[in-house]
Amino acid sequence: MVGAVIVGWGTALPDRIVTNADLEAVLDTSDEWITERTGIKERRVGGTTAGLAVAAGARALERAGLHGSDIDQVLLATTTPDRMIPSTASDVQHALGIEGGALDLNAACSGFVYGLVHAHGLIALGARRVLLIGSETLSRVTDWHDRNTAILFADGAGAVVLEATAGTGQLLGWDLGSDGSARDLLYADIGGYLQMDGREVFRRAVRATVDSARRSLERAGIRPSDVALAVPHQANIRIIDAACQRLGIPMERTATVLHATGNTSSASIPLALVDAIERGRLHRGDLVLLVGFGAGMSWASAVIRWEADT
Ligand code: COA
Repeated sequence: MVGAVIVGWGTALPDRIVTNADLEAVLDTSDEWITERTGIKERRVGGTTAGLAVAAGARALERAGLHGSDIDQVLLATTTPDRMIPSTASDVQHALGIEGGALDLNAACSGFVYGLVHAHGLIALGARRVLLIGSETLSRVTDWHDRNTAILFADGAGAVVLEATAGTGQLLGWDLGSDGSARDLLYADIGGYLQMDGREVFRRAVRATVDSARRSLERAGIRPSDVALAVPHQANIRIIDAACQRLGIPMERTATVLHATGNTSSASIPLALVDAIERGRLHRGDLVLLVGFGAGMSWASAVIRWEADT
């Protein structure tokens, strides 16, 4: 049996900060409203999906003490590829000197956890190392005159390196799902802007997060009280609050960065994970619940036992 463990991690955020006060100046909104309804105070905007992915990927490789040539596959979770063809992963592959395969994966905001599970599958089939990146430039598909969406979405990237290990590895339970009948609740046509039914997405997001997390916990054979750290998708602090309350996981054991990043879709979970690592909140042996939801509507969760020295 061959399992996988995370051996490196890194993030990248654009330099430009857009605060709620900046949005107040151009939209009929207020810092108070955005903070109270979403928990977001500021977000980062700029760059390209490939540029952010390369920066995050390079940091993850460096942390793992590896080079691009050590990687067999690069999986890039993104909803905002730089071009329709080829995959943005091919830019990343070239820039980082990776010799193995490269592909983009779009499961919206669930993309990173989808990628995590697929990476474990590749390693079980014989790949030695996979570079998994979530990278987004949602600012390019956001109408900055639409207060429904402009307050939420932003840019960023996070990456992990997964390596083969003898035995079962870190993945204890997972759940991937989608309900295509809800696909029109959140979408962007090619060349168009994000359109969203915020209230309905909110309602379904809480349910999807709770149900998927419960399935992964059950498959891992653990209880919510065993979870040392929950890393939820960073969309809205009220969604995270409601879901964690229902799951029985206190906010003290939950990673959040959305106050500073906004919703960065497939980058949000690795951004929150790496922030928790850098704050010394994660230790070898800890049980970690990763859980996301997004357009599709898609959802994804995984329970891993953290094996790296932080
Ligand atoms: N600033 C100020 N007022 C705003 C506003 C804004 N940016 N957006 C909406 N409002 C107003 C509405 O017009 C409405 O006014 P009314 O009561 O006079 O009609 C009021 O605020 C409440 O609007 P509502 O849409 O009910 O707010 P909400 O509490 O549902 O919050 C969202 C809106 C978008 C923040 C929330 O629904 C949400 O986060 N949904 C999930 C979105 C999401 O996570 N998407 C990504 C999924 S991956």
